[in-house]
Amino acid sequence: MLKKRITAMAGGGVLALVIAALLSWYTPATAAAGTVTVYKDPACACCGAWVEHMREAGFEVDVHDVRDLQTIKAENGIAPRLGSCHTALVDGYVIEGHVPADLVQKMLNEQPDFVGVSVPGMVVGSPGMEVPGQPPQPYDVIAFDASGLTAVYAKR
Ligand code: CU
Ligand code: CU
Repeated sequence: MLKKRITAMAGGGVLALVIAALLSWYTPATAAAGTVTVYKDPACACCGAWVEHMREAGFEVDVHDVRDLQTIKAENGIAPRLGSCHTALVDGYVIEGHVPADLVQKMLNEQPDFVGVSVPGMVVGSPGMEVPGQPPQPYDVIAFDASGLTAVYAKR
């Protein structure tokens, strides 16, 4: 009786392994995990500086110069009040504007249940927005979900 149960359990374990193997086998190949895909205007200098900030923090960054950023923002659920210059995507999350790399990493580590994070506007002193001679401004990094709800994710 006991032996029968053990055999059944082992059978279930093997089945689970086979299912896991099949799932990993059939996962479609997309961008490599952790690759940040950035959409920015070709003329945006501060966007380029943010890309450098992300690369220096160890992220793989794939840059796309586009003119129509409003469509990309709308498609990714970024309400106008959350908007900034560039829009980026990483591992299913949206990053809007000059979000610090360490907070992007924190979000990827924690896998929170929201759409993404934004630093609305163009805050002097945020990564890529350093202005010589101007003191950095404090700012909130905002988390947002698909229904438009927002919360402060971090303060800088
Ligand atoms: Cu900018
Ligand atoms: Cu930008």
